[in-house]
Amino acid sequence: MIENFKIAVIGSGTMGNGIAHVAAQSGFETLLVDINEDQLKKALSTIEKNLDRQINKSIISESDKKNILNHISISTDINFCKDMDLIIEAIPEKYDLKVSLFKQLDSVCKESAIFASNTSSISISNLGNETNRPNKIIGMHFMNPVPIMKLVEVIKTIHTSNDTLKIITDISKKMNKIPVECNDYPGFISNRILMPMINEAIFCLEQNVAEKEAIDDIMKLGMAHPMGPLQLADFIGLDVCLDIMEVLWIGFNDSKYRPCTLLKKMVSSGLLGRKSGRGFYTYD
Ligand code: NAI
Repeated sequence: MIENFKIAVIGSGTMGNGIAHVAAQSGFETLLVDINEDQLKKALSTIEKNLDRQINKSIISESDKKNILNHISISTDINFCKDMDLIIEAIPEKYDLKVSLFKQLDSVCKESAIFASNTSSISISNLGNETNRPNKIIGMHFMNPVPIMKLVEVIKTIHTSNDTLKIITDISKKMNKIPVECNDYPGFISNRILMPMINEAIFCLEQNVAEKEAIDDIMKLGMAHPMGPLQLADFIGLDVCLDIMEVLWIGFNDSKYRPCTLLKKMVSSGLLGRKSGRGFYTYD
């Protein structure tokens, strides 16, 4: 049944282009939608570059690349989603933006269409409750970089139906990912555990417990983490880390999730990590 699914990915940024890449590579007709035409072109060229990388590693052939690109179409018009079976939303982590998109999709898409959100922390239940199809709303949290990372954290709400869950599990597997289920709770599992660890590392730096390199080395060498928490925060984006800590803090109403002052100061000073050229470390 899922073999003939048509998938639309909304938002063609860091995550959206990766999700479209793996969807097309798994044989799904894939529509990539963005409000920004230049961003769509950029996304296609990123997908091409990443496919070339897969060719160099002998993962795919030149003709596979052609075939995968043929499975991807692009548009700035959301009305093209009307025939789609699954919509995967990957627009910025702003609640109002996502709610307004979900409401729009609800009126455009066919009744049977499933809406999945790639949000890192926003409540899937709240998004679903704004639509007329809460049983077809689910979280599909891919990890960055999408073509490489195996996990899809699949987030169920009280209203998500078993059919929806089964379809999303099957599609994730067809995308060569490993779906792992959890319930809708602030931060789900991944960010509820990861972000307080990063926040604690920032508290350690603020309190001068150790130099930044030492904090990262201790976690890399002692806990076998591939990257230290401060470097990882730079890669994720310090603004994203702060947004997620605030979701946890407000969502649980528990001060143990309060964001570290140093994190807030760095974000308000524009030190956002790798994307801004400077975070805990500096980047070219
Ligand atoms: P991004 O900022 O790179 O891309 C967002 C894209 O959405 C932009 O191209 C923008 O033009 C487009 N957009 C904005 N409003 C739109 C609308 N109404 N309709 C269509 N397109 C629209 O964002 P990124 O990093 O890809 O994040 C997307 C989502 O994925 C967020 O919810 C984020 O929390 C989540 N996420 C991000 C991860 C990361 O490492 N960046 C990891 C896992 C989840």
